[in-house]
Amino acid sequence: MKNREYKALKLNQDIECDVLIVGAGLSGLLCAYQLQDLYEKIVIIESDEIGSGASGRNTGKITSQHGFNYQEILKIHGAQKTRLYYEENQQAIKGIKEIIDRYEIECGYQEKKAIIGVKSKRFKEKVENEIMAYQSCEIDYEIIQNDEMENIFYGACFKKQASFDPYQFCIQLASHLNVEIYEHSPMMKIYHHTVEAVSHKIKYQHCILATQVMPFQFKFFYTITQPKQSFLAALKPSDKNDQMFLCEDEITKTKNSSDQFMLVGGYDHLLSDDSNSKWQSFKRDLVLEYPKHRILSTWSSQDYMVFDYLPIVDQCEDFIVITGFNKWGNTNAYSASLTVLDILKNKYTERRELFSLKRKTLVLNKNFLSENFQVLKHLIESKMNHDTCQIPENHQAVSFQLEHHPYGIYRQNETLYIVDILCPHLGCTLKFNDHDKCWDCPCHGSRFSIEGKIIKGPANVDLHHSICTIDELKLD
Ligand SMILES: Cc1cc2nc3c(=O)[nH]c(=O)nc-3n(C[C@H](O)[C@H](O)[C@H](O)COP(=O)(O)OP(=O)(O)OC[C@H]3O[C@@H](n4cnc5c(N)ncnc54)[C@H](O)[C@@H]3O)c2cc1C
Ligand code: FES
Repeated sequence: MKNREYKALKLNQDIECDVLIVGAGLSGLLCAYQLQDLYEKIVIIESDEIGSGASGRNTGKITSQHGFNYQEILKIHGAQKTRLYYEENQQAIKGIKEIIDRYEIECGYQEKKAIIGVKSKRFKEKVENEIMAYQSCEIDYEIIQNDEMENIFYGACFKKQASFDPYQFCIQLASHLNVEIYEHSPMMKIYHHTVEAVSHKIKYQHCILATQVMPFQFKFFYTITQPKQSFLAALKPSDKNDQMFLCEDEITKTKNSSDQFMLVGGYDHLLSDDSNSKWQSFKRDLVLEYPKHRILSTWSSQDYMVFDYLPIVDQCEDFIVITGFNKWGNTNAYSASLTVLDILKNKYTERRELFSLKRKTLVLNKNFLSENFQVLKHLIESKMNHDTCQIPENHQAVSFQLEHHPYGIYRQNETLYIVDILCPHLGCTLKFNDHDKCWDCPCHGSRFSIEGKIIKGPANVDLHHSICTIDELKLD
């Protein structure tokens, strides 16, 4: 079967459908894949372009080895559920391969080993704890000691895992699906079997929110999930081999190589942390650790974390929500799509219970309290910030308070972009992201361009903004 190029449609009228899927990342596309033979009319709307979220910008590991998460999942959920989580993700590896074979998707799929490890003896215990979790749940692994190639002191390996180019997978899968896809069509509102997108209404029988972020009005979600950002770089030449690594000494570092380039990344942090200093450290480490490699490109990406380490896939009001892959969505998105199928077929499964929104562990865990305290603390701190206004350096930004209200100025040569940096979602003060040159919300991850245009929710409106030249701005 030849790969077709997908032609996205333009939403220029009100429409009706059996299933509306919001978000064209892996979750949305895989749901469409599972449902396409069951429903006559499936519509996907995407605020940006297919695969433009975390799905098209990740490290491409298809694995059930999820960093150091098993020890946490075991502590909170016990051995039986942890084993089920592992089995779901193992099944997902097979499921993704079947899709690639069915449509002959050219996405550089390759079977590989997945390895987690530490470079220093000091952190050996982290791996030992993860191995204990594998043992409790009867998960197959092999110990790695003194791996010279990656300088890993101690680690654990899962065999028969894989890697791919997730962006190619998304856009090629989209071209084969029997669905209508509307790009540049953000959902603005959802109510009573209706979504408002751009200036049109879409009436649905069933709706799946595969957006990672939940709609504006569902404030509860912002207490049980939080966005984490990481940096990635594509380097050339690639030291291609059949292993993928995740090292976690003081900071998490991830690596995966393909024919054309090598992806390295890490520096996971909450948006309330100082992301600009993380970005500087990442840049410094790239040069120190890979002095002979050319940096082809760098970017940042965000994924949503749930405090009890399991995804959420459940019916909520008259739609289904999918979120919280804790940075492992390539396989979890597949499991989520099967769970959606269970829900729509009204079938009880253990998988459904595992990802349920009603599970008590979502709030009954220590992370829930401490992380919500962090958000609250940031909100209070941001209100106490009293910088005085000054003209920033070229391509830099400053923030300041005017009559107790926060504003930001970004400078591009002689032009100044002034925005109101009080987040229209729940009122945190936005921070400037020096790497991506945009304004980020440290509380729940909304992002805005230097002109104040919304890039990513949960906020759903642009910032108040104005443009002027340096000469026009009269400062006291
Ligand atoms: C740096 C990094 C590396 C990672 N590496 C790996 C890895 O190697 N292996 C792995 O398994 N996982 C990895 N992940 C996690 C994985 O990328 C994500 O979990 C997964 O892509 C999430 O898929 P998704 O479809 O749910 O979300 P997304 O891909 O983010 O898709 C959501 C889509 O919804 C759209 N959208 C949002 N709001 C609206 C709206 N209001 N209206 C319409 N559309 C909207 C967005 O534009 C986006 O396209 C990584 C994540 C990061 C951040
Ligand atoms: S306050 Fe929630 S995204 Fe900004």
